Amino acid sequence: MITKTDRFLKACRCEPVDCTPVWFMRQAGRYMAEYRALRQRHSLLTLCKTPELAAEVTLQPLQRLSVDAAIIFTDLLIPLEPMGAKLIFAPNEGPVIENPIRAASDVKALRMVDPDTDLDYTLEAIRLVCHELDGRVPLIGFAGAPFTLASYLIEGSGSRHYMQTKRLMYHQPEAWHLLLDKLGRVAMAFLQAQISAGVQVVQLFDSWVGCLSPDDYCTYVLPHTRRVIDGLRATGAPVIHFATDTATLLKDMCDLGADVIGVDWRLALDTAWRSIGYDVGIQGNLDPVALFAPLPEIARRVDDILQRAENRPGHIFNLGHGILPETPVEHVQAVAEMVHARSVRPL
Ligand code: CP3
Repeated sequence: MITKTDRFLKACRCEPVDCTPVWFMRQAGRYMAEYRALRQRHSLLTLCKTPELAAEVTLQPLQRLSVDAAIIFTDLLIPLEPMGAKLIFAPNEGPVIENPIRAASDVKALRMVDPDTDLDYTLEAIRLVCHELDGRVPLIGFAGAPFTLASYLIEGSGSRHYMQTKRLMYHQPEAWHLLLDKLGRVAMAFLQAQISAGVQVVQLFDSWVGCLSPDDYCTYVLPHTRRVIDGLRATGAPVIHFATDTATLLKDMCDLGADVIGVDWRLALDTAWRSIGYDVGIQGNLDPVALFAPLPEIARRVDDILQRAENRPGHIFNLGHGILPETPVEHVQAVAEMVHARSVRPL
């Protein structure tokens, strides 16, 4: 019999499963009343830095949704703090870095991070969650890829045009490469430490890299992301490499050797999978905003994605990006159930 643990891990390795595994990016978060209740009492940073609270939030979605994996609760930008960034989450504004990086000297001043001491709260939260899960479903760890972390460090917040980021890249290539090298080393060390603490799969988020041309991606980013993924190979843990807006970058991303590529909804799943090849897994790709549609329309879209995946081994159902805070929780529940019910296959 295939258990939920096997279902997700086997799909990560492109092995046959009983039905398609499903989890949701940002499955812990503000669309859930129990998360909002905790957030009334604690800041986001406190949730991330208190192992018992981070563990509690990680487990919240499992009580509501029939998902096949948990993802450890922290934020992508947390490892930037011990490097020297002054990180704040302003209410309704998203993350802000009060001392953004603009010069080569700023890059040089960034400290390297020892996850065992600097990010110990996340590692402790992982140990607590693994104990609590007791093998029911696997736990996913994650980190930001060098480009996406660099974009926040340089812009100081989210960005529309990545003007400062590209400016540093074009004007000061040496500083740029040093910055991405440092960020890559931190991401790699953090992911290795998460795996040692108990996560079975890791996801590398390069959420905003789709703003680059293929040439710039290959010149300024790819070698650094490759080093992160290479550094994880010896652990044996599958790697999911996720980014958005990547229609033109997919083949290059695929060369990096991740086990699974995460895609957004801008590209049809069958087109994306054909272009990366069926020896690599694929994760996605329902538009998070489709969760606001009436249930029959959601079902039609879930079916469409499943049909495009053709029950091939290696499909993990997910959204194309994170769940939005206003999303009706019943629709998220319904999608998890639909995916399982509509993808049953004989083994
Ligand atoms: O998926 C999960 O359930 C795990 C938790 C998780 C969070 N952030 C918690 C969070 C994960 C995987 C992230 C990743 C993250 N954080 C990314 C990469 C994924 C993506 O969305 O592309 C990025 C770019 C960030 C940076 C970040 N953190 C932004 C842009 C924001 C504000 C946007 C928003 O949704 O408000 C955050 C805040 C944040 N991180 C929240 C959560 C639950 C909401 C904050 C709150 O509780 O007030």
